[in-house]
Amino acid sequence: MVGEFKPGLEGVPAALSSISYVDGREGILEYRGIRIEELAKYSTFLETAYLLIWGVLPTQEELAAFEHEIRYHRRIKYRIRDMMKCFPESGHPMDALQASAAALGLFYSRRDLQNPEYIRGAVVRLLAKIPTMVAAFQLIRKGNDPVSPRDDLDYSANFLYMLSEKEPDPLAARVFDICLTLHAEHTINASTFSAMVTASTLTDPYAVIASAVGTLGGPLHGGANEEVITMLEEIGSVENVPAYLEKCLQTKSKIMGFGHRVYKVKDPRATILQQLAEQLFEKFGRDEYYDIAIALEKAVEAELGHKGIHPNVDFYSGLVYRKLGIPTDLFTPIFAISRVAGWLAHWKEQLAENRIYRPTQIYTGQRNAPYIEIDKRTAADTEALIAAGAAS
Ligand code: CMC
Repeated sequence: MVGEFKPGLEGVPAALSSISYVDGREGILEYRGIRIEELAKYSTFLETAYLLIWGVLPTQEELAAFEHEIRYHRRIKYRIRDMMKCFPESGHPMDALQASAAALGLFYSRRDLQNPEYIRGAVVRLLAKIPTMVAAFQLIRKGNDPVSPRDDLDYSANFLYMLSEKEPDPLAARVFDICLTLHAEHTINASTFSAMVTASTLTDPYAVIASAVGTLGGPLHGGANEEVITMLEEIGSVENVPAYLEKCLQTKSKIMGFGHRVYKVKDPRATILQQLAEQLFEKFGRDEYYDIAIALEKAVEAELGHKGIHPNVDFYSGLVYRKLGIPTDLFTPIFAISRVAGWLAHWKEQLAENRIYRPTQIYTGQRNAPYIEIDKRTAADTEALIAAGAAS
């Protein structure tokens, strides 16, 4: 029996999951039952990743062992670096990341999905190597050799170091680590669903992550954080905010960093990110775009707040990354570095009770259409087929 068609599968439950919980009306996000505000305050990204993937907070010994394994696996094979050197410098870093993540499957091709040690090895490798690959492409496209990870630096400080070749300020590293925690998981969004569909075929975890990276890149999903900065650049000054908003409303174009399929109030992550941005501005100087962002948030609230359109996670994350000196087109790869934790948690959950995803469709095309030989086809035939929906 075919059920009711819901465009974008809105509101259709596609899985049972105990990984994260969102209450879009109250603005609540929990990972394994723990509020995001608590995790942002007290946890670290790697501890949160462990929580998401194994379902419980690690003991001190478990966390130390996990961090140690990740430190040990941060390096990438020289052949992966050489492969990345062949990528065009003008290519988007998300495409470079997707290709590199998929390439890991060539090097670690044994697939043993029933074996907990294999699962742990893949989790560790992906969490460890994805940041190194993002940083490597950044240096390679500038014409430099990638730098090796530094074993004396923790996960986030090491990533910022690999990106800039400078040891980061401790506040910058801590703020960045909180950003990773905030983006680590968010129920079944498009990229997570993509990971789950790929996982359900029992393919290897590198293909799972590569498919999720490809999905995250779109401007309606992870790519929105880059678009927010482009939009703030385009607005240019606080005085231009009303005219910009008016134009968006008239042309019915989306204001980037606003709106969410689930949240109908301000995204709790946006609130935390705004506070982090302010901490950075206090120490390193205010960002000129922050005033535009605040004015835009106020104006959008007034015009669209009643429709449940409020800032989402992407609205303030770009301002934080900009203050950390990160190039705009790395914002989405950084989202991916973090979301790998959530994707892996869903991969593991999917494997525990797998059934291949195979939804149905409602066919709207022609039936029993004639095959017209090529020399007898006319433009009118093609138009008739298009009108009948067969060529759409
Ligand atoms: N600006 C202006 N109007 C909006 C916006 C926006 N950003 N978002 C939604 N609306 C309006 C939309 O025009 C529609 O109005 P109406 O009912 O009058 O036609 C109504 O709100 C419902 O919008 P929708 O597009 O049907 O909602 P959705 O649940 O399908 O889309 C969304 C959610 C996130 C794709 C959308 O809000 C959007 O495109 N936002 C801008 C891009 C963005 O910031 N994306 C990041 C999302 S959060 C992080 C992530 O998922 O990666």
